[in-house]
Amino acid sequence: MSATPDAPLIKDATELLVRAVERKTGWVVSEIVRDKLLRILQGQPGDTVMRWVEQLVEMPQDRPEWLAIVENFTVHETFFFRDWPQLEQLQRHIIPELIRAAEGNRRSLRLLSAGCATGEEAYSLAMLALEALKQRNGTVWTPDNVLVPDQGWSLELLGTDLARPALIQAERGLYYDGPGLSSFRQFLPAYDFWFETIPNTPHAPRQRQIKSALRDLIEFRWCNLVVGMPPGTPPFDVAACRNVLIYLTPAARQKVLATLAASVRPGGWLLLGPTDRIDDPSLWEAVRSESTVVYRRKG
Ligand SMILES: C[S@@+](CC[C@H](N)C(=O)[O-])C[C@H]1O[C@@H](n2cnc3c(N)ncnc32)[C@H](O)[C@@H]1O
Repeated sequence: MSATPDAPLIKDATELLVRAVERKTGWVVSEIVRDKLLRILQGQPGDTVMRWVEQLVEMPQDRPEWLAIVENFTVHETFFFRDWPQLEQLQRHIIPELIRAAEGNRRSLRLLSAGCATGEEAYSLAMLALEALKQRNGTVWTPDNVLVPDQGWSLELLGTDLARPALIQAERGLYYDGPGLSSFRQFLPAYDFWFETIPNTPHAPRQRQIKSALRDLIEFRWCNLVVGMPPGTPPFDVAACRNVLIYLTPAARQKVLATLAASVRPGGWLLLGPTDRIDDPSLWEAVRSESTVVYRRKG
């Protein structure tokens, strides 16, 4: 593309926008995305683009215009039962231990999926927690063939993300189950009963929806983890923040880890992505098994 007289102004506007995205979300914006943005903006009048960017970067972070831009920078890749060795550790050891400890008193479990994208992780956590509760007679089957907490147990789950469209899909719990990289690529058939099959339409073939009993257990909320959890959120027994930190700058990673440390109660657990590590051992104890590592909150 040959340079136009406005090219330097467009380049400055692009940089301003990219820096604002990095500052507000903590993401590392790759050269590929930067160049793509520059190519999209080239050809527009430079002063119009600059004015638009200047207005955008001043907007509150939850304004639709800003969120629409942010949406184009992020990756929402996710699927049910992702990183199974870690979830197996959760189901076989961590949740049963939490249940045993809570049996004699408050009979509640609080789980967080931070950076939940379209919700598959939050639903996976809920299915596994209910299965573990079932093993301790803490659930009952309803007439429409789902498990609900029983015997005074309460299960609370919060899913949070920075992307509103992803959260809307999470709330609907509606997923494509066809060939290719679907949400069901590593699904465990034992949990099929949690889904209704939706009749095919030309625009939406092969969809399955989470039954309402499970959807009702989970609250999905917008939240920027770099800034903190929504005020008044009580601490969790387990927080999963998987495959989020890899997209962040080192400074943003530290802020998100501080958010997580404040969100997990002492003795509670943190699950990170397979390539994430916590180097500072003052707040977390790393608990290793053959194939995975999980972190226990000290204090
Ligand atoms: C790759 S997905 C991971 C989804 C799921 N946790 C998993 O492991 O399958 C990363 C998600 O983190 C969200 N995210 C990134 N930065 C965030 C931030 N600062 N605050 C909240 N969510 C963020 C993105 O919007 C995206 O949906």
